[in-house]
Amino acid sequence: MTMSDIIEAPLAVDGGAPVIQRELNRYKGAAVIGDEEKAAVLEVLESQSLFRYYGPHLLSKVAQFEQDFAGHVGAKHAVGASSGTAALRLGLAALGVGPGCEVIVPAVTFIASVGAIVAARARPVFAEVDESMQLDPADLRRCLTPRTKAIMPVHLGGVAVDMDAVLDFARTHGLMVIEDAAQSCGSLYKGRAVGTLGHVGCFSFQLEKNITSGEGGIMVTDDDELFRRAAIYSDQGGQFWTAHAGVRDTVGGQPVIGDNMRMNEIAGAILGCQLHKLPELLNRMERNTAIVRSAVQEIADEHPGLYLRPSHPDRDRHALSVLVYLTDAAQADAVAQALRGEGVPAGKVYGGLPVYAAPQILNQWMITDGCPFNCSTFFPEPIHYHMGMCPRTEDLLGRAVSISIGPMYEEEDLEDLITGVQKVAHHLL
Ligand SMILES: Cc1ncc(COP(=O)(O)O)c(C=O)c1O
Repeated sequence: MTMSDIIEAPLAVDGGAPVIQRELNRYKGAAVIGDEEKAAVLEVLESQSLFRYYGPHLLSKVAQFEQDFAGHVGAKHAVGASSGTAALRLGLAALGVGPGCEVIVPAVTFIASVGAIVAARARPVFAEVDESMQLDPADLRRCLTPRTKAIMPVHLGGVAVDMDAVLDFARTHGLMVIEDAAQSCGSLYKGRAVGTLGHVGCFSFQLEKNITSGEGGIMVTDDDELFRRAAIYSDQGGQFWTAHAGVRDTVGGQPVIGDNMRMNEIAGAILGCQLHKLPELLNRMERNTAIVRSAVQEIADEHPGLYLRPSHPDRDRHALSVLVYLTDAAQADAVAQALRGEGVPAGKVYGGLPVYAAPQILNQWMITDGCPFNCSTFFPEPIHYHMGMCPRTEDLLGRAVSISIGPMYEEEDLEDLITGVQKVAHHLL
């Protein structure tokens, strides 16, 4: 079959043969787990010391990873955590976010960003995103109230938020900045690693992320006191971390009632290996994304109803997807469905809905009552969430289709993926 035969053949959603008839390997760090990780895990098992602070033959894999990770991104301190959500909770605790505080968060994010704010008993306030599908700094002023304590820019899908504008706004209004870099480990903003630009930055090592230990997270900061607060909070208020327990160092200070969000030694060992693989994964990601982006741009040039997310080379070198906009939501739905039918890994961003569309957020359903939604001492007025809160975001999400790119895609995968897009554009646009 010639290329034009393939493109002109009926769409798979109309009963034709899909262009791609295999599952593309979309995994990142998980796809390169190999002998190094196996050996590192075995070493920890043989040491019988799976807990980070003591054991019969402690190898201090978590402590080493914290040091290496901080060095890698260019931060002074890092605190390993049991998940990305835990890292966000450590960051918020370090910043003193609690009842009576509001945190500005983009209307497009994974629910964990919101959950961490609510777990701190603070109120999430939703800001619009712009066409980059990232927090729109121009909307911060609308979200500002006397209760605003912090901004949580979320670097979604490997793309950095316009941080200069966010940091300017934060400085002007005396706000703290906690970066949710869960999806963007290693991504750059003007040459600097995301997660190191605000007061604290948080990363996830869940299975889908750029590097992974299945579950895991880390918080970074340049600030000694924020570091101390996060470290002790993660460790039951400083049970093992402080000099009091005689294990780590002498800057423990006053203990507090904390939580357990510690990373374990097996995760630390795996992540130490994965960190070495991150630069190569990011190189492959950059190359694959650039190839698909320029091919889709050519397709868009021929089809006026399709346009790409504006490119920001300072922010989107390591984008994990190619994002396109259609003229309306119905067309975006049809295109997303047709692409998936062809085997192209594509879809609406978070189902085409803002995070606040989740019923538990709209209805403020929590596992227990009280702050931040029902606690008049700290928040005398109720807060109402409703559809239509961020109209621009709702419009953009409705019209957006995201094509996922993986660092492991080979030449043939990229060619077939592009053919799939050409076929759908030929039939639907
Ligand atoms: C934007 C964002 N924030 C936070 C998290 C939470 O990370 P974890 O799943 O490691 O708790 C995720 C994870 O998927 C995420 O995508």
